[in-house]
Amino acid sequence: MYASKATLKWRIRVTWIAAAALVLWSAAHGANGGPPADRPSDASPDAAEPDDTSPAKAAGTTDLSDGRHLFETQCARCHGMHGAGGTGANLTRPVLRHAANDQQLELIVKDGIPGTAMPGNWFLNDQQIEQVARYVRSLGHAEEESLPGDADRGSQVFVTQGCGKCHLVAGQGGGIGPDLSDIGSQRGSDYLRKALMHPGTNSPKNEAGYAAYLVVVAALDDGRVVTGMRINEDTFTIQLRDAQNRIHSLRKDKLIGFRKAGGSMMPSYEQQLDARDVDDLVAYLAGLRGDTQ
Ligand code: HEC
Ligand code: HEC
Repeated sequence: MYASKATLKWRIRVTWIAAAALVLWSAAHGANGGPPADRPSDASPDAAEPDDTSPAKAAGTTDLSDGRHLFETQCARCHGMHGAGGTGANLTRPVLRHAANDQQLELIVKDGIPGTAMPGNWFLNDQQIEQVARYVRSLGHAEEESLPGDADRGSQVFVTQGCGKCHLVAGQGGGIGPDLSDIGSQRGSDYLRKALMHPGTNSPKNEAGYAAYLVVVAALDDGRVVTGMRINEDTFTIQLRDAQNRIHSLRKDKLIGFRKAGGSMMPSYEQQLDARDVDDLVAYLAGLRGDTQ
């Protein structure tokens, strides 16, 4: 299992390289370049190219609808069809945390945000980047969704439920789960609601694309069984953090069984919280935007 991880990574890389080659090929064959003005779209010598679904088709015009089309095909799966967020950040805000100005915004769209699930979009050309960035800006003029809950009350629910046992907010709390100091600028409200009711369904990925909070069960040759989150792994050892926040470093040659347990170390709050508590907590979390640090 451990040996195949590297192979898998390699395979993913090869797939990406193949995808990149394909995109470059279609860019070369598909009329991506050239000054847009002298390329009437229908009379193009490349018109036979079946590029209807390709984002490259948007090149040549500067309409907001091109940006919108790009957004819906490339970004909506994480940011939501209307940009209100999901796995990705809520973009219907006049001020974006990572993109204070247009230049930064275009840079993020092109290169992604390192260390987060926000990917680079190197397959979009400069004009497309500009179009989609302009569309994202236009989302900022939309009215920000107003949440039903009371954030102040939500912060109390956070304390009484002991969320801080596992989560940091502005440097306070435990480190079993993700730091929530900036969660409101990373995720949309639907995602946050789901995270409370059904933990583990949308688990965050690390930079390499693996589940960052993978729960595993390890059986050792001395009879011990350790359940915890994998926090690190090398050729000979694996480190797990259990629900009591203890770290176990296990030698792989002492393992007689090892499997993914699925699920999450985070308990579901579906039964524990009433509808008002959930609304309030979501409003509190959505308001955590790193500015208290
Ligand atoms: C695989 C999911 C995913 C895709 C696809 C994706 N994003 Fe993101 N995006 C994220 C996540 C997650 C964040 C939040 C990163 C963080 O701050 O931790 C983010 C953050 C951003 C931000 C910064 C928001 C802020 O408040 O500063 C912008 C802008 C953005 N994305 C635009 C885009 C655009 C435009 C596209 C499509 C071209 C796109 N994203 C595609 C996941 C994604
Ligand atoms: C026993 C530890 C534990 C407790 C208690 C706990 N969590 Fe979590 N939480 C986690 C872990 C681990 C994750 C990582 C995702 C997963 O495993 O599903 C997580 C994920 C989350 C996420 C999603 C973060 C993301 O970026 O995807 C939110 C939001 C969250 N928790 C909020 C809360 C709130 C609010 C409470 C209290 C009502 C709480 N958690 C209590 C361990 C905990």
